[in-house]
Amino acid sequence: MARKFFVGGNFKMNGTIESIKSIVKGLNEAQLDSNAEVVIAPPALYLLLVREHLKNGIQVAAQNVFDKPNGAFTGEISVSQLKDSGINWSILGHSERRTILGESDEVVASKTKVATEGGVSVIWCCGESLEEREAGKTVDVVERQLAAVSAKIGDWKNVVIAYEPIWAIGTGKVATTQQAQDVHAAIRKWLKANVSDKVAEETRILYGGSVNGKNCKELAKQEDIDGFLVGGASLKPEFVDIINANQ
Ligand code: G3H
Repeated sequence: MARKFFVGGNFKMNGTIESIKSIVKGLNEAQLDSNAEVVIAPPALYLLLVREHLKNGIQVAAQNVFDKPNGAFTGEISVSQLKDSGINWSILGHSERRTILGESDEVVASKTKVATEGGVSVIWCCGESLEEREAGKTVDVVERQLAAVSAKIGDWKNVVIAYEPIWAIGTGKVATTQQAQDVHAAIRKWLKANVSDKVAEETRILYGGSVNGKNCKELAKQEDIDGFLVGGASLKPEFVDIINANQ
């Protein structure tokens, strides 16, 4: 089965009502590859604004979700609240949440379980630090992260994996196509050995880390790269070129 090309735009903690409306307008008016699945993730405050104005079949993702039902959890958003608001995706396990907010592999796995079981699809992120890469531990780190999530979830149908080497995020230092392809192939191999042939074959694996309008086409040609999770460039007009990278 051919895997559908997927592009996520992670706005992180950027934007204003005005600038986000302008990005949405640009996407609504653009000619987008009809074979690409596109999901954008504005800050939580703007999820409904984006949901209300976005057309062109583009979906909306939260940048995080809590793993408890509604209740006394100040500052958090539940899966049922996302569903109630027509937000059917969430990014989980982004390295900024793992490193700055201290989310462990287990917390990320628990959130992924609760989200997918509650009907919210997940862009699940993994990736190594520069120190880990230089120590030759890249695949070990990614496999450890995969094992934690795999222990909690039974169904991978609503999970898209994003491999994001931390040293490439927001640095302008993109992984080489070979570096990215090698880790994507290792992830698929792990899925085959530890989950199933079907999950390995069908799960989309995105690359994230300094993807832009110039480097996206070459990356998109790699056998195991099924799309991108884009940060900085998702706020710019070149996001359209990235969405269309597989045409
Ligand atoms: O979620 C997106 C990634 O962290 C990539 O960010 O494209 O700004 O490097 P970047």
